[in-house]
Amino acid sequence: MEYRYPLFFFFYFYFLFLCSLADDSPVGYGYELQSVARDLSSKFLIAKLQLIRSSEIYGPDMKNLDFFASFETNNRLRVRITDSDRRRWEIQPEIIPRKAPNLRLRSPTETLTLSSGDSDLILTLRRSSPFTFFISRRSTGDVLFDTAVPSSITPGIVFKDQYLEISSFLPGDRSSIYGLGEHTKRTFRLIPNDTFTLWNAGIGSANLDLNLYGSHPFYMDLRSSPPGTTHGVLLLNSNGMDINYEGSHITYKVIGGVLDFYFFAGPSPLSVIEQYTNLIGRPAPMPYWSFGFHQCRWGYKNVSDLESVVAGYAKAGIPLEVMWTDIDYMDAYKDFTLDPVNFPLEKMTNFVNQLHENGQRYVMIIDPGISTNKSYPTFLRGLKADVFLKRNGVNYLGSVWPGDVYFPDFWNPKAATFWSKEIEIFRKKIPVDGLWIDMNEISNFIDPLPQNQLDDPPYKINNAGVRRPLSNGTVPASSIHYGNLTEYDVHNLYGFLESKATHNALVKDTGKRAFVLSRSTFVGSGKYAAHWTGDNAATWNDLAYSIPTMLSFGLFGIPMVGADICGFAGDTNEELCGRWIQLGAFYPFARDHSEKSTARQELYLWDSVARSARKALGLRYRLLPYFYTLMYEAHSKGSPIARPLFFSFPEDKEAYSISTQFLIGEGVMVSPVLSPGEVSVNAYFPKGNWFNLFNYSEVVVASSGRYVTLDAPEDTINVHVKGGHVVVMQEAGMSTMAGSHSGFHLLVVLDDNGKAEGKVFVDDGEVVEMGGEDLSQWSLVRFSAGVEGGELKLNSEVVNGTYALDKKIGVKNVVVLGLKLEGVVGVNVSDKGIRFLVAEIDGLLLMLGEPFELK
Ligand code: GLC
Repeated sequence: MEYRYPLFFFFYFYFLFLCSLADDSPVGYGYELQSVARDLSSKFLIAKLQLIRSSEIYGPDMKNLDFFASFETNNRLRVRITDSDRRRWEIQPEIIPRKAPNLRLRSPTETLTLSSGDSDLILTLRRSSPFTFFISRRSTGDVLFDTAVPSSITPGIVFKDQYLEISSFLPGDRSSIYGLGEHTKRTFRLIPNDTFTLWNAGIGSANLDLNLYGSHPFYMDLRSSPPGTTHGVLLLNSNGMDINYEGSHITYKVIGGVLDFYFFAGPSPLSVIEQYTNLIGRPAPMPYWSFGFHQCRWGYKNVSDLESVVAGYAKAGIPLEVMWTDIDYMDAYKDFTLDPVNFPLEKMTNFVNQLHENGQRYVMIIDPGISTNKSYPTFLRGLKADVFLKRNGVNYLGSVWPGDVYFPDFWNPKAATFWSKEIEIFRKKIPVDGLWIDMNEISNFIDPLPQNQLDDPPYKINNAGVRRPLSNGTVPASSIHYGNLTEYDVHNLYGFLESKATHNALVKDTGKRAFVLSRSTFVGSGKYAAHWTGDNAATWNDLAYSIPTMLSFGLFGIPMVGADICGFAGDTNEELCGRWIQLGAFYPFARDHSEKSTARQELYLWDSVARSARKALGLRYRLLPYFYTLMYEAHSKGSPIARPLFFSFPEDKEAYSISTQFLIGEGVMVSPVLSPGEVSVNAYFPKGNWFNLFNYSEVVVASSGRYVTLDAPEDTINVHVKGGHVVVMQEAGMSTMAGSHSGFHLLVVLDDNGKAEGKVFVDDGEVVEMGGEDLSQWSLVRFSAGVEGGELKLNSEVVNGTYALDKKIGVKNVVVLGLKLEGVVGVNVSDKGIRFLVAEIDGLLLMLGEPFELK
């Protein structure tokens, strides 16, 4: 998470900060405002709060609290509440970097109105009993967060050692909430009267509504009036928590740490994510190859089995970019070893070399649990370096696939060194291209018995939906990490730290961009890893629920995400698998994966599935430059790759509740079939002219948003592009790189005003930095098209970088859609009677790195 301190200082001078003290609500439980002080630059404030009445439950209350607020940028406000008398656990800036303000406080004042022209957020403190505060947005006059929730609903601020509570009022009729994961939900928009428990757990994602592998206490609030105005709220806290979303209010019930809130002003959905990832870290760039299709399975028997799968794909003409192995390749499930009988070194080396010769890649799994087998070199090295998690002063003994294990404690800097070294040693034998880190919640097959208040806190979060003990299925909350940190406090950060260590190890060893897939995530994980949605099931419901989860991870700053295509648990079937690859072909991360005991589900096993795969993946591969340019946007601005419809149409209220369709970037919309037996789909089209990407002459004209029933025969998914976009495509090929440098195809899709815009990012696909300082390594080229005086002009402008020119990457084909010409034959006639022309110019040789104009 990079931080540009000087810039922030600069911005501070422009923020509005208003703080007034007003009188209202009745005396009750909670705290009272004692004093307020602010710094001379009006960017920071500290208030002292004192307990006025305590409660009996969940332990004694803190007597004195510090309320600290700071405008960190012109669109970000931080409010942090903590115990004045004792330092508590909180996420340090080394983990998620943040500005530590340099306070020069003025003596206590009664009324403060701090303002700066550029900030849209306003903080108001109330001299009420109990103390409350609210945050409003100046431009819309809207209250975004207000802790003055009636005492009948919540007692105000509660601050105990193992229980913190705070609530905010929400205008339920105007507010749509998204985020608060990781959970499998039926819908992307969160439904009121639900509890969102955050405590990382190896619970299969086929389970609805339970706490899953990751924790993201972040939500986006989209208001219908003024339509489309959006803000974001993060509670930066790694302790276990329940968040109750009730429609009219939201309540956080947290079992430790501090209340550290960040408010992001928006006001558009995209700007909220840009502001959010500016704090938590921009998503890691993913290599070009990782946008290809991946095949995995738990249960591949041996190297010949792997070879036959690779051959099966080639024979069926379905592009396979990456072959994976699950824990089967290991010797007795020990990380960094090979099963000498079924996956012996020589055969594996040949296999991986062969993949590389074919232009394919290899990724394998590793789990954090290190077998305690006394003759296992990795274990002995870890023991010697003393890098394992402890409980009661000794290494904590857990149990996972290999049986007895110790877990590397990634808080210990020596653990990252150990991990990196093990990766390096293994890569000398097998040059894996990427790593899959699983079971890192941490998953443990035993349920450790509670030993103290950490294992058994007074407030029981709704762990696994049954308020099960915190330590069940994981390591004990009372285990101790390096630096004397308790697992109780840092549990949710394990996968994040392992992702960081693995990412850095791969970059160091390969000198190339890293591909790390992590099951467990936390705020900021996107900077290091991609994510898959874990153990789903081969059911139609799970197919549909993959869309809300994927979209949520876009909000969490982890845009490289996908679900196990065709389903992980349970046998899939031909129809489901066919529909799944149609949808999965448009997940940012597209991997077929299944559980050991299930029927095989490689895409070539059924003719109809193979047909669907060739068709859908065929389009995906042609769209790779578009996907990759979105990766660049994600890396530079945080924008999700797969987005909800309202990201492009924030004022279209119908789009707020759509969970069955999504956008790739700004203007490509995917409308999948999600139920058995269906051969049509009722899809929503926001305002615009939408062209079918499989058949350019099929157009949906939506002069305002409308539902359209589209044909969706067995081998077909509907993918449309909206007028106004130039989509850069490459030639279809059996690998991602095959068509990448051989000349682009531009799809110029004009809007009603005869205009279109787009861009493409190019580099070698795996240089560590994406869009870095060395301009010879990349290019960003912008295209704009417009019809003027009956003539179409297409412009190409090199925004940055010389790579495209050096590599002589050109444009060789331009297709123009949306030209409205009188009397042209062979064009589609839409329901509005407009005739659209599909015009193609082939055989071009335009250099991408040079500006050009085509008339
Ligand atoms: C976990 C993973 C799954 C993997 C299995 C065996 O369940 O989520 O993807 O196949 O472990 O390693």
